[in-house]
Amino acid sequence: MKTVVISLGGSILIPELKENRIKAYLPVLEKIAAKHRLFVVVGGGGGARDYIEVARSLGIDEGTADEIGILVTRLNATLLIAALGEAAYPKVAESHSEAKKFAESKKIVVMGGITPGQTTDAVAAVLAERVHADVFVNVTSVNGIYDKDPKKFTGAKYFKTLTPSQLIEIVGKGGLGAGSHNVLDIIAARVVERSHIPLVVLDGTTPKNLSNALLTGKCECSIVSETKKKVLPL
Ligand code: UTP
Repeated sequence: MKTVVISLGGSILIPELKENRIKAYLPVLEKIAAKHRLFVVVGGGGGARDYIEVARSLGIDEGTADEIGILVTRLNATLLIAALGEAAYPKVAESHSEAKKFAESKKIVVMGGITPGQTTDAVAAVLAERVHADVFVNVTSVNGIYDKDPKKFTGAKYFKTLTPSQLIEIVGKGGLGAGSHNVLDIIAARVVERSHIPLVVLDGTTPKNLSNALLTGKCECSIVSETKKKVLPL
């Protein structure tokens, strides 16, 4: 049994409330949890972005907008927990320590955001450290890491494998406003570097990509690791 921490982007799980992928993710998460200790950190998605946009239009500061974003991530986490039923610990973990404690139940532990100035990627990266994860997975809307945003630049270079310092160089170019977009936030990238935990970045718009990657090793994904040691399958 391995320990897995997944950053499940809100733009994947709940891009818009009524167009969510929760149902499709339930069997995928249950399948992984049947074999491994599983932590899922849920993002804010379209709901968080809408709230943050409205907060800004009201002249509300970025830190407060972040607090609102955090509430939305926790609301999304609550929805996922309720949908998972018995398979999940029944409460959203509001800190890393709480997540560790909840994991004693052997159920899937779900959390959202915790502190302003970062995204749920950073929450998940630190959680991976705290629970000594074997792998940290970022489930996002692109099939891995490019030197530039592939949705904006046609000639973006794709990395099948890369080192943590290459990752930092790439994500360091992104911004840090509330609701800002990047393949992984810079704090998470720095934590990946110091923790030496391998990171897998994959496209979660097709939910079974996640279980295929972890359980069979079949994946069109980028792997960030310092060593050439095989990361997948678990
Ligand atoms: P997300 O982690 O969802 O950010 O948190 P995101 O980059 O929009 O990712 P996707 O689209 O879900 O994949 C939503 C917002 O909540 C605040 C930030 O403003 C973030 O942009 N947040 C979240 C925090 O301030 N701290 C946290 O720990 C988590």
